[in-house]
Amino acid sequence: MSKIEEIIKICKQRGFIFQSAEIYGGLKGFYDFGHLGVLLKNKIKNLWLKEVVFKKDNIFLIESSLIGQRKIYEASGHIENFQDPLIECKNCHNRFRADHLLKGEYGEVKLKNNKPLCPFCSGELTEERNFNLMFKTYVGPVEELASEAYLRPETAQGIFYNFKNILNSMRTKLPFGIAQIGKSFRNEITPRNFIFRMREFEQMELEFFTHPNEAKKWYDFWLNERYNWYLKIGISKENIRKKIYKKDELAHYSDATVDIEYNFPWGFDEMEGIANRTNYDLSRHSHFSKEELVYFDEEKKEKIIPFVIEPSAGVERILLALLLEFYQEDEVNNEKRIFFKFPPFLSPIEAAILPLLSNKKELLNKSQEVYNILKEKFIVYYDDKGSIGRRYRRQDEIGTSFCLTIDFQTLKDDTLTIRDRDTTKQERIKIQEVENYLTEKLKF
Ligand code: GAP
Repeated sequence: MSKIEEIIKICKQRGFIFQSAEIYGGLKGFYDFGHLGVLLKNKIKNLWLKEVVFKKDNIFLIESSLIGQRKIYEASGHIENFQDPLIECKNCHNRFRADHLLKGEYGEVKLKNNKPLCPFCSGELTEERNFNLMFKTYVGPVEELASEAYLRPETAQGIFYNFKNILNSMRTKLPFGIAQIGKSFRNEITPRNFIFRMREFEQMELEFFTHPNEAKKWYDFWLNERYNWYLKIGISKENIRKKIYKKDELAHYSDATVDIEYNFPWGFDEMEGIANRTNYDLSRHSHFSKEELVYFDEEKKEKIIPFVIEPSAGVERILLALLLEFYQEDEVNNEKRIFFKFPPFLSPIEAAILPLLSNKKELLNKSQEVYNILKEKFIVYYDDKGSIGRRYRRQDEIGTSFCLTIDFQTLKDDTLTIRDRDTTKQERIKIQEVENYLTEKLKF
């Protein structure tokens, strides 16, 4: 089994990630997240919020709606431009993204009269046609153009059409940023690579508004910030790189883009894009809404349409990168062990409380007492089922950094053992020191 196959198996068995609605056969590109998956996603989002929002000045949060009227996406250019080239096999009816097919991403492509054939059945392919990636719906009971609406393909547009609300309500000055975490939807032609290319996914986006003269400076600043954030959360330098886009490769709104890529099993691929969106979005929304979306510089008495620097990351792609980065196999007591070597601040379960296997009531009561104290402060898990060795393995497999064992000695001197997941070494400390110990170890 390959590493990614092992990870997919553990994700299902241990409750990180499930194929959505599997009992009905599921839909491609949709996944549900179990307890551990949600905890890990929350860790990623909190680490992003900490670095991008809370440790900075003048960055404000927003949560805009997921469904938006057609006008928004006419203004943003998505109705016109947000499309991928689609081709279909006339024989087996599989569909492909033409650009991905030609890069060999579906397998080897044979040619006939210089035209590519289906990589699955060598059947003839249709001509390329453009396919819009947005999910369309209607608001209200009548399906007509006026009620046409779309599930947002990026969280960014909710930030742009709220520009004035934030500017006025927060009484801020340039430069400032608006940040949003939330779901986005794209009807991808071929969702694949587990949670890498999904049809419903979560984005973490910042739109940073700056004076046009300072756009380059802030672009460099955010690129640097975001790259370093990946190193800080534990991704190794050799597994990430920056990809600089050429002018003819840029999205319709962008003047400059760099992707931060991770070394996935199929090669380096995008986790996050940092773009200079210029004043494209504010100008377009001003034009389409007839509301002037500008910043008034009180000192210079001039109106400015700010430029926008946008770092935009996908939560699930980062989650997948972390699972790949920290997946480990070793041997403990002559047995193969699989574990996730997450740094403590990323572990979905921060500490597990494992009483020694015993019927002694005092021991179980003491364990419950420790559990009740610690769950006030940490994400802890209580497990008293099965042999201690097996319980350690279960925690290792989900990446729990610390296992706390309560034993007979605990009843004598109020100490317990803390086992380090990576070394499997144990140390004995006083119960009253555990809170400080964990706080120190879990620091980001
Ligand atoms: N607002 C800019 C924007 O949406 P993007 O490069 O299309 O730019 C940003 O998307 C990030 O969202 C990507 O770097 C990726 O992490 C994530 N993303 C995009 N499409 C995705 C998909 N189909 N499945 C999972 N994540 C996706």
